[in-house]
Amino acid sequence: MKLTTLSGLLLVGLVSAQSVNAASIYAGQAKAAAVCSQCHGIRTPSADAPFPLLAGRDVDYLKTALKQYRDKTRKSELMNAIAGSLSDDDINNVATYYGRLKP
Ligand code: HEC
Repeated sequence: MKLTTLSGLLLVGLVSAQSVNAASIYAGQAKAAAVCSQCHGIRTPSADAPFPLLAGRDVDYLKTALKQYRDKTRKSELMNAIAGSLSDDDINNVATYYGRLKP
C-alpha cells in the first residue's frame, strides 16, 4: 500500500514536470510561429534573407542574445524593437523551442 502510494506520487511528479516543460515549448512555438518566423523562419530562414538561423542553436546563446537586444546592449533596430516586448518567460520559451529544433 505504502509503496503503491509512493510510486503513484512519483508518477504524478514526473508527469507534471513533463507538462511544464511541454507548456513552455508550446508557448515558444506559438511565439515563434506568430512573430519570429516572419524573419527567421522556423527551421531555416528563407535562402536569400539576411536573417540568422535560430533552429538548433545553443539555448543559452539565444537567451543571452535576446536579453542583450532587450536591454539594447546589442544593437539592431529590428531586434531591439521585437525583444523589447518579450518577458523573461517569452525569452526562455522561445529560446528553448528554437534550440531544440533540428534545422
Ligand atoms: C522583422 C524581422 C525580425 C523578426 C520578426 C525577428 N527577428 Fe531576430 N533578427 C533579425 C535581424 C535582422 C537580426 C540580425 C541583427 C544583428 O545583426 O544583430 C536578428 C537576430 C536575432 C538573433 C541573434 C542571432 C545571432 O546569430 O546572434 C536572435 C537570437 C533573434 N534574432 C531571435 C529572434 C526571436 C526569438 C524572434 C521572435 C520573438 C525574432 N528574432 C524576430 C530580424 C528579426
